[in-house]
Amino acid sequence: MKKYRAGIIGLGQVANTFDFEKERAGSIWTHAGAYQFLADQVSLVAGADLDEQKRTLFCQKRDINSAFCFSDYCQMLAQVPLDLLSVCVPTPYHYEVVKEALKYPLKGIIVEKPIALNTEQAQEIVSLTEQHKVKLLVMYNRRYWYEYQQVRQLILAGKVGKIISVVGFYTSQIFNIGSHLFNTMSFLINEKPQWVSAHQTIADEHDPTLAGTIGYSNNIMGYFIPNNQRRDAFFDIKIIGTDGVIDIRSNARFVEWHEMIPSDRYAGYRELAPLESVFTTRETNSHFVKAVQDLITTVDTNTSPISSGQEAFSDVLLIEKALLSAANNSQKFFL
Ligand SMILES: NC(=O)c1ccc[n+]([C@@H]2O[C@H](COP(=O)([O-])OP(=O)(O)OC[C@H]3O[C@@H](n4cnc5c(N)ncnc54)[C@H](O)[C@@H]3O)[C@@H](O)[C@H]2O)c1
Repeated sequence: MKKYRAGIIGLGQVANTFDFEKERAGSIWTHAGAYQFLADQVSLVAGADLDEQKRTLFCQKRDINSAFCFSDYCQMLAQVPLDLLSVCVPTPYHYEVVKEALKYPLKGIIVEKPIALNTEQAQEIVSLTEQHKVKLLVMYNRRYWYEYQQVRQLILAGKVGKIISVVGFYTSQIFNIGSHLFNTMSFLINEKPQWVSAHQTIADEHDPTLAGTIGYSNNIMGYFIPNNQRRDAFFDIKIIGTDGVIDIRSNARFVEWHEMIPSDRYAGYRELAPLESVFTTRETNSHFVKAVQDLITTVDTNTSPISSGQEAFSDVLLIEKALLSAANNSQKFFL
């Protein structure tokens, strides 16, 4: 099997250091960890970060020769031939890093979410990677979680009937966390947003917090509701269908599926059946590993990844219109 050569630009939390938090032990939460897990298919050979400590930690923990660790990512790209690249710098820099990287003959790029902070840059990243025939995966890692994938399958199989609405709860920050919510909601119900109406709940010039309503294709209504507490890991989604309800709670720690059945309490009515816990087993394999595997498969087979650039672009477009709506008395804006 061909071995690809991978590098990472930005060596912070999601690139490297999440794996060393004791609470995350037992699974892989980083790009570096995922590349190393897939060592039979890919070699992690280089990294770049402005911060010397981050570089040192990366070299030590990942056993990378310090000659292949760069402070200037342009030098890394010029000096080290790579097939796969992870872009893990803060979001405002995704665009410039991807543009520079596309000067070299890469096969695949993983860009962290959100893909960019405006639709112009997001669209250009998608178009340029297409022009250069470089596969683009945007790391919305929930698309690779067993639980979210199972819920999507249930919905696609019609197990909750026709979807009426999807209600998503998040902490705060529409770009940082709201983008995860929008991406996951579209993934689960397999529909596209068509319009949005929003209002601001926390003002912040870099990443405000919004609540609002989304109109999806097929007349499905979506609602996004923050708790305004960034310190919380609060991420819940409720899907309401004509024949049942699915509750994904506490970031998929609990997933409940209730069917709508004839009531034994109220004549002529239906009500939710007692809890049917859908998932009794959990996969230990990391979603980061599955994402990197998806990129490799996408490169090998010339297909599209589960978490594509086009859908990541749609999330930025939705956020942009939501911000416009919030600035205009919650007026409805079409995408
Ligand atoms: N998919 C997820 O679940 C997830 C989780 C966390 C973060 N993220 C995303 O990943 C990205 C990075 O977030 P993070 O939390 O790892 O940030 P971080 O601050 O921990 O790491 C970013 C690193 O990039 C480096 N950097 C900044 N500018 C650089 C440059 N020009 N050249 C080289 N290095 C540079 C910084 O020194 C820092 O070490 C963001 O886009 C964020 O939204 C995604």
